[in-house]
Amino acid sequence: MIKLKDLKIKKTTNIDDYLNLYNIVLDNLDDKDLLGAFTKEDVINILENGGKIWLYYDNNIPVCSIFLIPVMRKTLDKHNLSYDEKETTSVGPVMVHPNYRGNKLQKQMILVLEKYAKSKNYKYIFTKVSEKNIRSKKNFEDLDYKIVNKYENERGVNIAFIKKI
Ligand SMILES: CC(C)(COP(=O)(O)OP(=O)(O)OC[C@H]1O[C@@H](n2cnc3c(N)ncnc32)[C@H](O)[C@@H]1OP(=O)(O)O)[C@@H](O)C(=O)NCCC(=O)NCCS
Repeated sequence: MIKLKDLKIKKTTNIDDYLNLYNIVLDNLDDKDLLGAFTKEDVINILENGGKIWLYYDNNIPVCSIFLIPVMRKTLDKHNLSYDEKETTSVGPVMVHPNYRGNKLQKQMILVLEKYAKSKNYKYIFTKVSEKNIRSKKNFEDLDYKIVNKYENERGVNIAFIKKI
């Protein structure tokens, strides 16, 4: 069993490594709807506006990642959520390299993100998961994320979750 604490993180996020991991994870998915699409420009833009990526390496191989993305008022409104956007942040893409799955790395990364969010005085964490994404849905539910909305988009039915941290 591989533990998150045994993996390394670099001081500065290497965006090309991040996108390489994204492409490996996406290529390996039978159902591409499970993971949202984004470009290098999106990633840079979010990082310049309060986002944070944790990218973990095993012997210089990027193996898993989680992305904290600030929440916009319009996103909360879209889901009829009255939480203050200054007190709420979100979990964006979470990815584990196919060869490293089954080690509960997603859960461990969510806990790292929650600790960081708490240190920045956030009170709530928002996230969205495809209803078809059994593994990710289970991991968020196990960590006490509560369903606050279900909605449909071009990727099918999705669930919006909130956790009070
Ligand atoms: C989702 C993802 C990050 C999870 O990776 P991981 O941390 O290795 O997940 P794990 O395999 O440790 O955990 C999956 C959980 O679902 C459970 N599970 C797996 N298949 C299941 C099934 N068919 N029915 C019910 N539960 C199932 C596992 O038992 C495990 O729960 P447990 O830890 O209580 O035993 C990884 O699969 C991934 O990168 N997927 C592609 C990208 C993606 O979907 N990202 C999430 C977007 S929101």
